[in-house]
Amino acid sequence: MIRDVRTTRSIAPESMDDHSINPSDNIPFRKVLEQRYPRRQVLAGGLGLASMVLFGRAFAFSDNGSGSPRPSLLGFDSVPTSTADTLVVPEGYSAQVMIPWGEPITGDFPAFDISNTSQQQAMQVGTHHDGMHYFPIEGDDPWQGSSLDGLLVLNHEYCEPRLMHAAAQGQVLGSFQAPVKPDGSRDADEVLKEMNAHGVSIVRIRLDASEQWQVVPDPRNRRITARTGMSFSGPLRGHESLRTRFSPEGTRSRGTINNCSHGVTPWNTYLTCEENFWFYFYADEPGRLPPHLTRYRVGVAALWQWHRAGDQTEEAARFDITPRSSSPTADYRNEANGFGFIVEIDPFDPNSTPVKRTHLGRFSHEGVVFAPVVEGQPLACYSGDDASGEYIYKYVSRDVYRKATASGALLDEGTLYVARFDDGGSGHWLALVPGQNGLNADNGFGTIQNILLNTRGAADIAGGTPMDRPEWGAVDPGTGQVYFTLTNNTSRSPIDTDGPNPRGPNHFGQIVRWSEEGPHHATRFHWDLYVIAGPTHESRDLNGEPLTPDNIFAMPDGIWFDADRRLWIQTDMPESSVNRDPYTSLGNNAMLAADPDSGEIRRFLTGPVGQEITGCVSTPDQSTLFINVQHPGGGVTSAEQFAAGEHSSHWPDGGDSIPRSATVAIRKRGGGKVGS
Ligand code: FEO
Ligand code: CA
Ligand code: CA
Repeated sequence: MIRDVRTTRSIAPESMDDHSINPSDNIPFRKVLEQRYPRRQVLAGGLGLASMVLFGRAFAFSDNGSGSPRPSLLGFDSVPTSTADTLVVPEGYSAQVMIPWGEPITGDFPAFDISNTSQQQAMQVGTHHDGMHYFPIEGDDPWQGSSLDGLLVLNHEYCEPRLMHAAAQGQVLGSFQAPVKPDGSRDADEVLKEMNAHGVSIVRIRLDASEQWQVVPDPRNRRITARTGMSFSGPLRGHESLRTRFSPEGTRSRGTINNCSHGVTPWNTYLTCEENFWFYFYADEPGRLPPHLTRYRVGVAALWQWHRAGDQTEEAARFDITPRSSSPTADYRNEANGFGFIVEIDPFDPNSTPVKRTHLGRFSHEGVVFAPVVEGQPLACYSGDDASGEYIYKYVSRDVYRKATASGALLDEGTLYVARFDDGGSGHWLALVPGQNGLNADNGFGTIQNILLNTRGAADIAGGTPMDRPEWGAVDPGTGQVYFTLTNNTSRSPIDTDGPNPRGPNHFGQIVRWSEEGPHHATRFHWDLYVIAGPTHESRDLNGEPLTPDNIFAMPDGIWFDADRRLWIQTDMPESSVNRDPYTSLGNNAMLAADPDSGEIRRFLTGPVGQEITGCVSTPDQSTLFINVQHPGGGVTSAEQFAAGEHSSHWPDGGDSIPRSATVAIRKRGGGKVGS
C-alpha cells in the first residue's frame, strides 16, 4: 500500500503497522497448539492446562485465603456483536458522549464548526482520542480523590484531513488523503489546524446533579499540540542528533505527534507516547537516510505533506528533513530524531513545559505502564513498540523511589531493557547498555546516546524477541503480573512462530502475561498466554476452551486493570477488515471485561461503524468508566461516497453529520462499580 513519498494518498491507515491480510496462508489452529504446547498437554486440557503448569492455577480463589472460589468479577450480561452505527452497553448501564472533536475547552471557547480555523482548533478538543487518564481534582494522587470532579487528560493520535476542513467537503478524497492544491502545496491554515488537532487535551470535568459530566472552564484547561514547545531530558539532551535550526543546542523541540496510548506516573503526572511519528516527515532521497531513521520507516511516506504548507513558516517546513544547508543547525535534517519519545506533562501546571524523557527509548511507543512503586526500591515501567516484529521494553530507574521526592528525574537515569521470551515459559531482560549484550563501538552502539537514538537497532543486536505488534500493557494490582496485548502480525511466517507468538500469519492477536522473578526490577521473568484471540474456531481462553459468541474478539489493543482486578480489553481491527473474512463473525470493534484468575471474558460494549475503542480509566470509586471512540467512519467511506456527502458513520451526532471521535462516560444506572 505504501508506494510514493510524494503523495497524500499512498498509504492506508490500517497498513501503518502491518501488511495486508491473506487468510489462505493460515495454518491449522490445532497445529498452533501442538507447536506451542506438548501434544500431551493439548490433548489433556489444552492451553488452560499449560497455563496451570506455568502458574499453578487457572481459576479464581477468594482473596481471604480461604481457598474457596470467589464470585465472578463480571456482573453484567454480555452484549452481542454488532454491525450497527451505534454504541451499545449492557442492560442497566448509561453511556454519555462527551468532548467530541471540536468541543471548546479554553480561550474564547469557539463553538465547533467545520469551518473553524487553526486558531480556534487550538482552543478546542483535538481529534482521534486515544490514551486517557482521569486525575482527581485534588491533585495529590493519580488514583485517589474526587470521583465527581477532575482533570481528564487525553491523547489525540492522528487526524483525518478530509473530515476537518470546510473546503474539503465535496472533493473526491479518500481516507487519509489531504486536500492538495494543483501545484502540490497545502493550504497553510489547514496544515496548522491539523497540527493543532494533534497532541493532548487537558480538560476539567465535573459530574452535575443529573449525573452528566460537564466541561468546566478552568485555568488548567489546555491544549498541547504538534506545535507546543517542549524540552528534552535524559542522555540525548544536547546530543548532536537533536540539534536543529530551532534548537542549535539540541535541548528543545516543538510539539508531539501520533500520541497513542499513555502512562501515569506515581507522582501524578501524565505521559503521552509518540507512536507512528515516521509518516509525518519528507526526504528528497529516503534511500540515503541513516539507520536511526530507516529502521523506523522515516522516509517511506509523508502522509499529509505538512512540509508543503505554501508560504508557511519553518513550523511546517521542518517536516522536510532533507539537508538543505551546510549545517545541521541551519536546517531540519535532525527534526525526526526528536520524535518517538515518551513526553511527561504536569496537567496541574498549565505553564509547565512538556519534557521528552529520552532514557525511556525512542521507538513507536504505544504506551507505558508502571509497576507498583515500593518505597526505597528502583521503579520499573514497561512500554511496547507497536510494529510487526518489534519488541517489549522495560525501564528501571537508577535511583530508588521515595514518595516525598519522586519526580520525572527518576526517568532520566536508569537502564532500558528489551525482553527475550524463551520457549517453555521463561524470559530474560537484556540491558541496552554499552559493553553489554553485544552492544559496542564497533557496531555503532558504544554510547548510551547511540543506543537510545536507535533503540530498535540496539535491541536487534541484544537479541530481543520480535513480537506480534506490542500494544498496551497493564499490571494486575493483585498479583503484579504484567499483561501485554499483541494485536496481530500478518507478516509473521508459519515457520517463524514461537511461544508467545504462536501463529503465522497472526490475524487475531493474543495477550501475553508474565511474572517477574522477584521485584519488578528483576532481570528474569516467567510468561504464559492469557488468551489467544479470534473467532470460535481460532481461539483459546485461559482454560483451553474456544471463545464463544459472548466473548469472541480480535486484535486486542487497549487493556487496563481496574482496582478490583477486572481486566478491560479493547479491540482495534482495521476498518477495511471489520465484518469481512476472516473477521466476519466479530462485528464492530468492541470492549470486553475479563477475570484474570478464572479466565472468564464477557463482551461489555460494542462501538459504531469504522471506529476503534481505546482509552480506559475509571473514577477512583469506579462509578464512571471513561472510554474513547476513535475514528468513527474512518476509512470505510470511499472517496466517491465522501464527495457525495455520504458518510459510513454519523456517530455521535446522527442525521447526516460528519463522524467525530469522542469520549464516552459509562455509568451503572442506580450507581455502583462499572462491570460489577
Ligand atoms: Fe496507535 Fe498501536 O495503536
Ligand atoms: Ca492503540
Ligand atoms: Ca492498534
